[in-house]
Amino acid sequence: MRVVTTFSELWAARESLPEPVGFVPTMGYLHEGHLSLVRRARAESARVVASIFVNPIQFGPAEDLAAYPRDLPRDLALLEAEGADLVWTPTPEEMYPPGFQTWVAVEELTRPLEGAMRPGHFRGVTTVVAKLFNGVQPQRAYFGQKDAQQAIVVRQMTRDLNWPIEIVVCPIVRESDGLAMSSRNTYLDPDERQAATVLHRALTEAQAAFDAGERDAGALREIVRRTVGGEPLADLQYVSCAHPETLEELESVAGGRALLSMAVYVGKTTKTRLIDNVILGDEGAW
Ligand code: PAF
Repeated sequence: MRVVTTFSELWAARESLPEPVGFVPTMGYLHEGHLSLVRRARAESARVVASIFVNPIQFGPAEDLAAYPRDLPRDLALLEAEGADLVWTPTPEEMYPPGFQTWVAVEELTRPLEGAMRPGHFRGVTTVVAKLFNGVQPQRAYFGQKDAQQAIVVRQMTRDLNWPIEIVVCPIVRESDGLAMSSRNTYLDPDERQAATVLHRALTEAQAAFDAGERDAGALREIVRRTVGGEPLADLQYVSCAHPETLEELESVAGGRALLSMAVYVGKTTKTRLIDNVILGDEGAW
């Protein structure tokens, strides 16, 4: 496995890679969710490239950029064990040299949900993913369903900019008690870690109601609200039951599928913001 830092090192290494190349962009501190993307990429591609870059421009001023967990030696060992061929670890200066002033922004799809709660976040994500794609030039890129809106936004950007890259969205990987894996779970103390299971519980209850025939989107959102409301250490920031392609809020799910998603603050004094979601209707149809 080769590790490169600069664009020129990356391009030199990329030249000799047989295609198709599968690409897994990450911010590091890897967990089973990331590794599932690497495994899928390895199964579908001749070579696997991963990137590790904590992207400063996708964090708001009051967000956790400085605290975001980092462990490069551990990440590299995990990627090597999974059979990644090339890892790109650019520095912030390499990615955003002085004078940098070009942004890539997707419009409508970034207005609701995470986009509404985290102003500027998606502009930072799409700008860095555009630069990562330009560097790696993959045939396929792998994203997790946990950041469902991110995957939808990146797919739209790829389509709009005519890049010949397939965006593959992989299922959420969960701990045994249902908590979706996330690098941010490391912020939770034992009581908060226990309370954080409420996200999956709320989605499971809404899913059970859907399976039993509930199609009223308001009723499904209410189940999530009520379940999260029952957990003293959890504060619901939003719950959404939206069209899985346009992300517009639905009144009814009778027409087919819906993305039921939520953000929850978990904690006593320092609060950790966690997200989770489920596709109602046909989970496999990404
Ligand atoms: O999902 C992430 O880890 C990041 O948003 C990504 C796609 C690597 C861009 O920084």
